[in-house]
Amino acid sequence: MIVIAVISMKGGVGKTSATANIAASLAKLLGNGAVGVIDLDPQNSLHLHFGQSFQVGGGLAAASVMDTDWADEIYCSEYGVDCVPYGDVTEQEREAFEELLETQPEFIGKQLYASGFAQKRVVLIDTPPGPSVYLRQASQCADVALVVLLADGGSYATIPAMETWLEEMHIKRPELKSMYVFNQVDGMNALGQDVIEVVRLHLTSRVVRSVIHVDESVAEALAFQKPVAAYAPHSQASHDIDHVAKQLMQYVVQ
Ligand SMILES: Nc1ncnc2c1ncn2[C@@H]1O[C@H](COP(=O)(O)OP(=O)(O)O)[C@@H](O)[C@H]1O
Ligand SMILES: [Mg+2]
Repeated sequence: MIVIAVISMKGGVGKTSATANIAASLAKLLGNGAVGVIDLDPQNSLHLHFGQSFQVGGGLAAASVMDTDWADEIYCSEYGVDCVPYGDVTEQEREAFEELLETQPEFIGKQLYASGFAQKRVVLIDTPPGPSVYLRQASQCADVALVVLLADGGSYATIPAMETWLEEMHIKRPELKSMYVFNQVDGMNALGQDVIEVVRLHLTSRVVRSVIHVDESVAEALAFQKPVAAYAPHSQASHDIDHVAKQLMQYVVQ
């Protein structure tokens, strides 16, 4: 099992979209059921990319607090990706779950194995932006941290903080790899192209060669509750995501 934590310092960069769509792309490559996704973000939106409609109750947060099996929370989507949603929880349940994560730093990693997800080839974990107990848990059990960036000054400015955080993480877990990917790239935007060039210069092979372009089919696919690969298989974003998924796998197995 390869575990990829999808992370960023800023919100709205496309972590959840990238998690869902890279997972769907990998499922095409590796086969139905070979890929799983875990939603570690209280926003609870990852499952919506796989056609699982709004739900009350259920999900990993409530199951964890009630000490019941995550296996019962797995949603096997028709897109070959199995999803464990965060769940729609009360404020009290969320606080109790976060307290549990504070006191048991390896909780998510242990649940991954206990839930049967260990049989998956790849598991992607979606996280909320910035440092949090969720980010700590995800990076504790991940093989790779995939940092999603926009090609703009705002995302660029977060790289030093991200690198410092990754360096600290490396002291605890030297085996943790990290990789950056640009999302929502506009090929006509000169400043954006400069940002990508400078980041590639500094981070060299830690930047995924392919970028994900800005493409309205990403937002439309979510509105139809499908991965982009299913909603618009011939779109720019779908091709980009396939390339990113393949390059990510090549990097991980190096
Ligand atoms: N490549 C893309 N092209 C166009 N829109 C995108 C792209 N990636 C993400 N988006 C849109 O950007 C918004 C934020 O994406 P989301 O995945 O929720 O970000 P995050 O999880 O980092 O907060 C959503 O409306 C999503 O549809
Ligand atoms: Mg998100």
